[in-house]
Amino acid sequence: MIKPPSSSPYRVTGRNLGLELARVTEAAAIASSRWTGRGKKNEADGAAVQAMRAAFDTVNIDGIVTIGEGEMDEAPMLYIGERVGTGGHPMDIAVDPLEGTNLCARSLPNAITVVALAERGHFLHAPDIYMEKIAVGPGLPEGVVDIDDSIQNNLRNLARAKKRDITDLTLCALDRDRHAEMVAKALEVGARVRLLSDGDVAAVVAACLPESGVDLYAGSGGAPEGVLAAAAVRCLQGQMQGRLLFENESQITRTTQMGEGKDPTRKLSLTDMADGPVFFCATGVTSGDMLKGVEFLDNGYIRTHSVMMRSESGTVRYMDAYHLFDTAP
Ligand code: FBP
Repeated sequence: MIKPPSSSPYRVTGRNLGLELARVTEAAAIASSRWTGRGKKNEADGAAVQAMRAAFDTVNIDGIVTIGEGEMDEAPMLYIGERVGTGGHPMDIAVDPLEGTNLCARSLPNAITVVALAERGHFLHAPDIYMEKIAVGPGLPEGVVDIDDSIQNNLRNLARAKKRDITDLTLCALDRDRHAEMVAKALEVGARVRLLSDGDVAAVVAACLPESGVDLYAGSGGAPEGVLAAAAVRCLQGQMQGRLLFENESQITRTTQMGEGKDPTRKLSLTDMADGPVFFCATGVTSGDMLKGVEFLDNGYIRTHSVMMRSESGTVRYMDAYHLFDTAP
């Protein structure tokens, strides 16, 4: 017997929403890739935003941007609170139209375009401030690492849980002065350290992918990127904690206004950041650990490489797509 179409909000006219989202990240990736290696990060970002915004007009959801390009008065498109989609199930949208603007401008690995989706009210409302983050992959005892523990203890506990020597573990972090002490301590106990110039969404995801060679992600980066990464970690059954980092009182006030009255300085669990069923979708702009970048082929096609993940099923789906050069964004 043929089953009737599911009434789940995660299926739209019988099609998994993940495929709809891939169109959105593909469009942004193609548009920004035209700026790869041209030294113009704002132009690359602008192209991604414009293409992503236009692509959302074909997605059958009633979306509200909760993680976006900034406040309404500072971002013309994909601003926090903007409604996107053609109407349908009420959902929260988290976007980073170009994650790693510098990576794209300088043609360095790991620039990606990213979208995540949750039911309305299920993403953390995080302004554009910093967040401390720690993440490990699936299959480990709950709480094996803790954001409040020292990096040395976290590495020791992780080594024990993985039945490996600390010297076999790799910590990944952004290459920033603020991480110098953490990096020195990790090296002191014998771990390897992989430092990245930018792009901590891909770095957190790497900690959840066995083939990446990354065992632990730790350090601070953007809070919006933290929420996007949390959605991916949910889909990949990994573990992640976060904590918003405030530089002044006005950031605390703003976060309190955006939040649900909870203590904005609290330790954030994975579900504090991304709760309920979530989708995560990314397309490579420049080639990296997770995805290959956009390729302009000789035969008039552009090839993109995307990954779609869904927490409900735990499915991780990689998709290559060919787009006609003349009709691509
Ligand atoms: P952009 O794409 O906005 O340039 O962000 C890149 C990035 O490296 C993020 O991945 C990371 O979360 C954040 O910047 C870190 O911020 P900072 O460069 O200030 O340390």
